[in-house]
Order: sequence, then C-alpha cells, then structure tokens
Amino acid sequence: MCGIVGYIGPRRAQSIILNGLKQLEYRGYDSAGLAVLQENGRIAIRRDAGKLSNLEELVHLSPIDGHIGIGHTRWATHGKPSQRNAHPHASMKGRVVLVHNGIVENYAELREELAMEGITFSSDTDTEVIVQMAERFLEAGLDFEDAMRQVLGRLKGANAVVAMAVDSPDRLICARLGNAGGIALGIGDDEMFLASDIPAILDHTREMVFLDNRQMAIVTRDGYQVTDTEGHPLEAEIHSIPWDPVSAVKGEYKHFMQKEIFDQPQSLINTLRGRADFESGQIFLPDLKLSPELTRRLKRLFIIACGTSYYAGLIGKYMIEELTRLPVDVDYGSEFRYYNPILDKGAAVITITQSGETADTLAASDLAKARGATLWSIVNVIGSQSMRMSDGYITMQAGPEIGVASTKAFTTSLVDLYMLACVLGRARGTLGDRHYRKRVNELSRIPDLAGRVLDHDQEYQDLAGRFFKAQDFLFIGRGINYPVALEGALKLKEISYIHAEGYPAGEMKHGPIALIDESMPVLAIVTKDALYDKMVSQLEQAKARGGVVIALATEGDEAIKGKADYVIYVPEAPPLLAPIINVIPLQLLSYHIAVRRGCDVDQPRNLAKSVTVE
Ligand code: G6P
Repeated sequence: MCGIVGYIGPRRAQSIILNGLKQLEYRGYDSAGLAVLQENGRIAIRRDAGKLSNLEELVHLSPIDGHIGIGHTRWATHGKPSQRNAHPHASMKGRVVLVHNGIVENYAELREELAMEGITFSSDTDTEVIVQMAERFLEAGLDFEDAMRQVLGRLKGANAVVAMAVDSPDRLICARLGNAGGIALGIGDDEMFLASDIPAILDHTREMVFLDNRQMAIVTRDGYQVTDTEGHPLEAEIHSIPWDPVSAVKGEYKHFMQKEIFDQPQSLINTLRGRADFESGQIFLPDLKLSPELTRRLKRLFIIACGTSYYAGLIGKYMIEELTRLPVDVDYGSEFRYYNPILDKGAAVITITQSGETADTLAASDLAKARGATLWSIVNVIGSQSMRMSDGYITMQAGPEIGVASTKAFTTSLVDLYMLACVLGRARGTLGDRHYRKRVNELSRIPDLAGRVLDHDQEYQDLAGRFFKAQDFLFIGRGINYPVALEGALKLKEISYIHAEGYPAGEMKHGPIALIDESMPVLAIVTKDALYDKMVSQLEQAKARGGVVIALATEGDEAIKGKADYVIYVPEAPPLLAPIINVIPLQLLSYHIAVRRGCDVDQPRNLAKSVTVE
C-alpha cells in the first residue's frame, strides 16, 4: 500500500526522501512523488507514474533545493495510476501540499461540496479533497494546525496524512485516523523524520514515536508535539527499534526474498533468544502478560490473520490444541470482522501479523477488544498498531521483512505460536514438568535443521528448471502439513503467477483428482509422521492418474523414491515443529521458479507488503 516519507532538518530534503522511498519500494506501488519547500517560499512537486526511477530521473533533471519535504509511493484506489493522480497533491492556490494513505470514504460528498464553492480539482483521487479542504480553512483565517484539525474532523474512513503549508514553513503536520497504516516519527539530532514504515528512516535513527488512532503530530526540526485530533497534548512513548539498517539491505543476495529465506536460521535463533532457556528447559514470555487469573478464565482461543500469517495460524491451532486442549478457531481478519463471533471474557484473540498494520486484522482486533476478549498479538514490527493495542504480545524477532512474499515472518511466527502453546499448556497443567521441558528442548534443534535445508538450494534450483513452465500446480499434505501445502501454493502463485492450489490430501478424491494429468505437477508433503502411510497412498493415487509427483520426504526414506518422480529430502523434525522445516524447500522452489520465469520476485504485480486498506 502507499508509502510515506517526510523530513525536516538541516540536510537536503530531496535526497533523504528519495532514499526513504527506495526503502519502501517493497510495499508495492504504481507511482511516486515528492514535494520540497524551496528557499523562495514555494513548494515544488515532482511526481510520475511507474517506477521510482522515473521520479529519480525527474529530480535529476530538475532538482529541488530545500530542507523540509514529503514523499509518497502510491498504490491506486481512486483514479488510475498516472502523473496527475500521483502524490503529493497540492491545493488550488498551492498553499498546502499533502501525501495520504487510506481511503476517504465520504470523498464524493466532500468533493461535491468543494466544487460548489468553486474549487476545481486537478486529479481523480479522494486525497485531493483533503488538501483542498485544508486550503479552504486557511483562507477562512485558521492557522495550519486548526485547519488540519477541522479537515480531520470531516474525514470518514481510515486515513493517514502528512502535510506541509507555505504559511508554516517550519513544520510538518501528520495524523492518523483509524487503521490505514501507521506514521512513525523518527527522532534525530536537530532533525526529524516521518515514515509509514520503519525501514524508510532506519538509516537515520532508531528512536521512534508511533501515532495511534485519532492522533496528530506537529513536527518541527527540533521536536514534535503529539495531540489528539481535538488538539489536547498527549504523552508519546519513545520506542528504540532494535533493527539494524544493514539487515534491511540485500547484501550478497539477488532479491530480498532470497535473503530472507536464507536469514531463517539466524532469525529463528533471534526468536528464541531471551525466551527459551534450554538449560532449565523453560520459556519466558513476559510481554504476553499471562496471569494465573487469565489462565483460569480462558475457555477458547481465536487466531486471526491474513495471507501467510493466516496459514501460520492454521498450524498454530494444531500446536495449541495439542498442548493446551483449549479449542482454537482460526479465521481471516476480513471474515472475522463481519460475523458475530462468540467473544467474551473467556476468549483470547491472537492476531498474527508481520506488519502489525493489516487493516482487516486490526479491525478484527478492535472487535475483540470491544467484546471484552483478551487480545494478544504475534507481531514483527516493533511499535506497530497491532503491538500497541494488544493486552500482550510476542514479537517475531525476524528483523525487517522486505520481500512482499512472507518467508521468515512465517517461520518465526510458528516458533512464537509453539512457545505460546508450551507456556499455556504449562500454566493450564496440560503439560507436566517433564513434557514441558522436552517440548522446550525440541525447539533448540530448529535453527540448525533450517540451515541444513538451505544447504540443498541447488536441488530446488534444478527442480525449478524442470517445472518453471507449468501452468498449474497442486500441493497436498495432511494434518499439520496441510497448511504447509496451502502456504506452498500461495508462495508459488504470489511470485510466479502460476495457478496453484493447496489441498488436504484426503480430499483429493472429492474433486481435485479430476484435474490430474501429465501436465499437473503434484507436490506431496510425505514426511515421516503419524499420517505417513495415508499420504503415501494418496501420492500413489496421483501417480496412477498420470500426475508428475514431487515428494517432500524425510531423509533416509529410500522407499519413497520408487513412488515419486522427484524427491526432496528434509531432515526429520519434531512433529509439531516440522512445518517450519518443511516449508523452506517450498519457499525456495517458488523463488527459483519465479526467477526462471523472469518475474519481479520482491514486488509481484498487484500485491502489497502491508495491506492497509480493507
Ligand atoms: C499481504 C502480504 C503477505 C502477508 C499478508 C498479511 O498480503 O503480501 O505476505 O502475509 O499481507 O500481512 P501481515 O503483515 O498482517 O502479516
């Protein structure tokens, strides 16, 4: 979704903003622009449709000098991707310039009202009503802050904005209404940075403040004041972001996704660090704030998420039900928010979200809170809305994930879910001392096993060479590996645009088996577990119908070679943790197939890294 960057300080705003926008490219966008307040008191804008390189070219041909500015990468909602619809947008007389993320739900009504007053519009966006309205309030004699406050009061929907005005050349004003993505205020030394996402400003500072719903901030070179949208001053907590800017660059890798797949052994270690003590066989999750009273109260759990995080949730259900015997429902944020779930004080809602800003997941969280349920989040981005609004949380510790297709956030969230299951099981007494310690210790092998899978990268690359022209792909698995099949299919379709489906293998006979012929590769997860024999027979059924079968099997399983056309081996892992290991070959296979097909791996068409609109 849209990316926002802002700067105010002694340096040239243009280059800081361009650099920030580059760090946000991964979010997906269709146009980009920036605006800088010049020494002559006017605000100059450069913007264009297409890649950031178009904007760079414009700025190169016609640079703008100045020390305060804003930038934006746009993902169209109202008005097609074009130069006129690209942000920043300026008001009719050029007094206010603004960038925006979200959807102004009542924009048609506001546009009509403004048009009746003689305002002419120069774009097809909903954003333009915000900036035109701001100028109208300035013309009526309000100062910049009051004008913005009035405007915010008129907007419906979830929106985040950063604005600058020629009459107030010493400040930027930013605001957040609802869950249209966050705004981070980066604190520098005699300079301030603004961004929708942390990586945009990580090069400059790690001290950040995050705006909550219905908050605005007046940002000057030497500080900031956070208020509510009525203007009452608020205390804002400063978060120290532990991420290292180096971890947000590709380094030796060709793509972020590739780097992030290879990051996994390290990110899994980071997830365990400080939480799992293998000496004493214990797990510590203090941020979860699980009290004995809450443990007694809990009767059921809901896991809510979107995309890859949702599939992590499906796996979490197996883990938690197995170790705690608490019933767990798993649902998409976009579904959960619109039905009438049975939520009360006896329920806990666990959201899983890499970004912590996915609009549907946040809306589901609002619902959980409103109904009195406990809200926990498993979240990667420190300081994100999801983390801030939760009663307790577990961070993924995956570091910045830039590739649109989620990889290391998936595997680290599985570790978090497992740790949660252990801690809850222990607290509820469903996991006795000995079993608890055994389960905890099983975690210690996971980073190493992940590394061993990565050692076989060349095999996945070879396999990709064999299958990159396929038009369809079927992934099948059973039990806890069924969601792994779903995730394998999602990875492939997201980045290579090959139609792929994940299916519970036992359901093949109720439909998908009709699709199987020589042109349909079937990837079967047939690792050694309780359902091994059942999986083998389903694999044989696919083979008997002419399907080309790739078996993902456990090292040492020689017998499988006689039943499948291709075999990928993974080391044996404890059953509840096996998905973490089994998914890695699927990530790599999709990655190499997408590369062979010449696809834009890190920024697949039509997709965004964090989906901040409904
Ligand atoms: C988008 C991303 C996916 C991600 C999903 C949920 O669709 O492209 O990679 O899994 O959002 O995002 P979240 O940040 O809530 O985990």
